[in-house]
Amino acid sequence: MKHIIVIHGPNLDLLGERQPEIYGTQTLDELNREIISYGKSLDCEVSCFQSNSESEIIDRLHTFRNDAAGIIINPAGFCHTSVAILDALLAVTVPVVEVHLSNLYKREDFRRTSLTARGALGIISGLGKYGYLLAVKYISDLYQEKQK
Ligand code: DQA
Repeated sequence: MKHIIVIHGPNLDLLGERQPEIYGTQTLDELNREIISYGKSLDCEVSCFQSNSESEIIDRLHTFRNDAAGIIINPAGFCHTSVAILDALLAVTVPVVEVHLSNLYKREDFRRTSLTARGALGIISGLGKYGYLLAVKYISDLYQEKQK
């Protein structure tokens, strides 16, 4: 079974009530259920984790750095500030996709820089929940290609 790790950063626990005009009305639980169910349809086991703490996110990256089909991370506000999360991502050997629900380039200037994106294979920004689903599909296909 392909194991995909999804890491949601700070304040994403408040999805559904936090700035719904930007992040939509879906709660984190609903979003996770959708990601897990889409993963199942592709024969992937998806484990979702959310933390408001930088150190917990780093610990999770360490745990799965060599041991997953891939990692999907929305570092949320930490993407604009965290060299420590970037450093942890640079130690990850499995494919990493960075996802943002909103389009960072349509928002305030300070959101245009993601320090952590340098540690990802690619970044999907602005497609809402579809960003996560597309990332699952990408990691699943990549994993399958590698098995050939
Ligand atoms: C976000 C964008 C970040 O700028 C913001 O701090 C978030 C969420 C997104 O998913 O669009 O918390 O990562």
